[in-house]
Amino acid sequence: MRASKTLGSDLHEMVRSSSYTTDEWWNPEQPPRQLLPAFAYTSQSWFQREREELFAKTWTFAGMVEDVADPGDYITVESGNAALVILRDMAGRLRAFHNVCRHRGARLLEGSGNIQRGLISCFYHKWTYNLRGELQLASVPYQPELFPCLDKSHYGLHHAKVATWKNLLFVHPDPGAMPLEDWMAEIPQKLGLFKAAQKRLHDPEALVETSDIVYRVRANWKIVTENFIDGYHLPLLHSVSLGDGDFMQQKWQPAGRHQAFYRPLKPDVGKDRSYADPHEAMPVIEGIPADYGFSYQWLFPNIALSQTAYTWSTFHVIPVSPVMSLVRTRVRSAKPAGSAKMNVVRADELPSHIVSAKGFNLSADRLQVGPVHALESNNVMLEDIYACEKVQEGMGSSVFSVGPLSKWEAPLTFFQTQILDFVPLR
Ligand code: FES
Ligand SMILES: [Fe+2]
Repeated sequence: MRASKTLGSDLHEMVRSSSYTTDEWWNPEQPPRQLLPAFAYTSQSWFQREREELFAKTWTFAGMVEDVADPGDYITVESGNAALVILRDMAGRLRAFHNVCRHRGARLLEGSGNIQRGLISCFYHKWTYNLRGELQLASVPYQPELFPCLDKSHYGLHHAKVATWKNLLFVHPDPGAMPLEDWMAEIPQKLGLFKAAQKRLHDPEALVETSDIVYRVRANWKIVTENFIDGYHLPLLHSVSLGDGDFMQQKWQPAGRHQAFYRPLKPDVGKDRSYADPHEAMPVIEGIPADYGFSYQWLFPNIALSQTAYTWSTFHVIPVSPVMSLVRTRVRSAKPAGSAKMNVVRADELPSHIVSAKGFNLSADRLQVGPVHALESNNVMLEDIYACEKVQEGMGSSVFSVGPLSKWEAPLTFFQTQILDFVPLR
């Protein structure tokens, strides 16, 4: 049974639509085209401009609320060239600051953890701030002798802005940034499925995290992004690994600076198993038909949200260098039966393309693909990593320039338009 017949009017407008996209974005006389030059994918100078002019000027995904569940919990985040920390203060409130000591600029906190006794103490000269970012109520060593005129009220931590959508954390380096809900535009209305009563079925707050894997990709973050939003390669590179997708029926719509996609299953596919780990007995999420297919949204600049009948997940592309990215995928589902908690795979057991991995019943065996070539692996992630790395290699060629794009690649043109709004060509 097809999802559209199963749920009828419960599907949102985009999913019900019969056309790939809106007319505005599909004009055969003005087909989509590549807007970014090759050096935007290879050069250190462009990468640095993106850090300063894009990532330091936008809302970016930072993690899940459960990452900072208790008073004192913190995570550090790089938003371009802005080093930030999100923490939960002693009163239970989420706060975000620039992770920079007001004395001589040392980085205050690293990684993630819990701040003991509610005080952030700089390792260097021990200036100490409370979890509201205040210096005046904490301490400066030898202050009367060394800083007799210091007005500590002027030297609190610089504020940043934290906001949540459901249980997702977002951060912006500017405390006066536009509200997150304005930035997200109509994306929440295009997520997953709604029932007629607007009850959200794919609810990340109602699901549990079942895996958290960080991949290393030797490619620019925009190549990874463009691979994710490219509908053209799906029936070709992933003809087997995503073979049950009905690629002729895929849908795409821009929303604000973001994009929403939907792909049903082929009519003759009875049960969607391609998006669920076949080794994991994931139950169907309550209210979602097993043949739902794949709904996904690209939140500009660098995160995808995805929903299937079995999962709700984030796909976060983290720029590392002009030619290196990390991809952190966190999957949520209804809790698998019989599983106690996530286990961590030992670092020395991981294949070279995986930085870290934890999950329900996740083992090194499950992550290893052995001697099989990526293109023979029948593994969507390995196929995509291979494609991204080969495109990155080709971009370095002196003869390279992008050829014509198809309508299924219109999302790339839209994405590049957003990039150029922040980082214009000079
Ligand atoms: S740099 Fe932090 S106390 Fe000196
Ligand atoms: Fe792909």
